[in-house]
Order: sequence, then C-alpha cells, then structure tokens
Amino acid sequence: MLKSIAVMTSGGDSPGMNAAARAVVRTALFVGARVWGINNGYHGLLEEDMFEMQSKNVGDIIQRGGTFLGTARCKRWQTPEGRMQGYKNLVDRGIQGLVVIGGDGSLRGAQLLSQETGIPIVGLPGTIDNDVWGSDYTIGCDTAANTIIDAINKLRDTASAHRRVIVLEVMGRNSGWLAMVSGISGGAEYILVPEEEYDLDEICTEMKIAYEAGKRYILVVVAEGAGSGKEIGKAISEKTGLDTRVSILGYVQRGGSPTVIDRVKASQLGEKAALAIISGLSDIVFGFNRGNVVSINLHDAVTNKKKLDPEYIHLAKVLA
Ligand code: F6P
Repeated sequence: MLKSIAVMTSGGDSPGMNAAARAVVRTALFVGARVWGINNGYHGLLEEDMFEMQSKNVGDIIQRGGTFLGTARCKRWQTPEGRMQGYKNLVDRGIQGLVVIGGDGSLRGAQLLSQETGIPIVGLPGTIDNDVWGSDYTIGCDTAANTIIDAINKLRDTASAHRRVIVLEVMGRNSGWLAMVSGISGGAEYILVPEEEYDLDEICTEMKIAYEAGKRYILVVVAEGAGSGKEIGKAISEKTGLDTRVSILGYVQRGGSPTVIDRVKASQLGEKAALAIISGLSDIVFGFNRGNVVSINLHDAVTNKKKLDPEYIHLAKVLA
C-alpha cells in the first residue's frame, strides 16, 4: 500500500475537475494515506509548487468550475529531462504515486513519466471534449454540452426573429462529440463534425429549397475540428444569398458550475483513482462505459483515437 500520493490537474480545465480532485483527496485521507496537491499541472511539478493537503483544502469546491489546483500547458514536460526533474521532485517528498486529471495530451505525458521512471500513475479523463479512448464520458463534457444548448436556445430566438441562418462554432479540438450531442439536443438542422465528410454546396442547395418552402431559419452547429465557423458562414451567405450570421462560442464552454452528472461521475472516478493507486495499481485511466466505471490501460487510452458514436451520426441525419 502506498503511503503518500499526489494529485494534479493538467491541460484545458473542465467543470468537475474540482469534484474529482476533492474525491481523490478525501478518499486518500479516508484510507490513511497522505496526499499532496500539485499546483498548475506539470509546470507546478517542475517548479516544486506543491503542498500536503487536508480535508479542509478541498472544502467548498465541488460546485465550482475550473480547477482550484490550477492547470497549465507545459512545454518542458515534453522533454525526458523535464519529466525526470518532475519525478525527482516527487521522490524528494516521499510521494510514491501520482493521479493526473486531464485530457489526452496530459495523460500522454503521464504515460511517458510512468514508462521512463516506473512511478505509479493513474489517470482521470478531465476534458470537455469527451475524446479519451475507452471511455464514453470525460469530466466536464456534460456541463459544456449544457452550456452549448443554452446558447443554441438563445440563438434560435434571434434566428427566428430575423429569418436568418446562424452558424455556431463549438469546441472539441478534433472531436465532434460536443457539436453532435448539443446539435441533436438543440435541434440543429446541420451538424458538421470532423468525423464525417460534408458537402457545403449540397447543404446550401438544400437551404435555398427549404427557405423557398417556407423555412423560417436554420441553425448550423460546427465543431471547430470540422472547419472555421466564420468561413462556413461566409460561404453559406455567398452561395445562398441568405442572411447569415456566425457565433463562435469559445471559452464559456470551459466554465460554469458542474452539472449533477459531472459532479457525481467525477467523484466516482476520483474515489476509484485514489483507491487504485494506493493499492499499488498503475498505468490505468478510469472512465465510464455504458454507465459503469471501467479501467482502461493508459497506453491504450493515449494511443487509440476515439470514434464518434455512429448512432449519433445516424440520428442527426434522421432528425434534421
Ligand atoms: O481540450 C479542451 C479545449 O477546450 C478544446 O476543446 C479546445 O480546442 C482547446 O482546449 C483550447 O485550448 P487552450 O485552452 O489552450 O486555448
């Protein structure tokens, strides 16, 4: 049994990271282990910016978006020398294992640390993108999707008022999951994702026919990995002559108080991660599959590309 572990958040922040970190800390303390918090992700690990935590350190945070530990994108971590320095900083404090809460990039960095030093690592999928292989859920994806449909509801009002085509660009990096689920939930007429080819000329022809048949407005949700909302909106306007506007939702998708789903699932994952690493397990990521917590091999999680559920793709076509 490990007697001392550390937890950190890394990469793009996401609502629910605090709930996950809180569960790691309180579970570790519950089973009698010591637990350190590392500030600002791998940058803080390299700068030795870490502190031993007590239960009160994670009080009053479950409802907060962002991450109280802070996060960063750290170039030095991409070097073996940087990772070795981080490992040394852990060992110097008697820290025997590390829980990393972050997206695929952060988990890849964790996998390299484990591979190069042998230190036990357990990962949790902390990203709004829902793009971690092996899990059908990532911490923050539910809150982000709800933020997007709130925006879609508002955009439908103004699109209807002006009989406009509105193009909404959403986040997701190279994944179309956020666009897909929010597009379906928001009743978008078109959902453009990187996982599926689309023909803009064909879409524009359909739009013109729809308006001639009395369509009052059209909503297009574009995943940022599928193209630039601005360019797509310009092309639609030029090809159809329809009054078109573009909204790029941006960083509001990363914030907000986490939903019940994100709080509960993040807490479940945090507990599992703490118990696993303290019991000596390593090189795994905890996620969800059809509602149940699953453990995924860390190397598999970071080397495989997650596919978009074909059922969603089909449903979007049927319901458009
Ligand atoms: O990975 C989460 C995410 O929000 C992506 O959806 C987005 O493309 C990226 O982070 C933005 O990165 P940054 O916060 O470094 O600008």
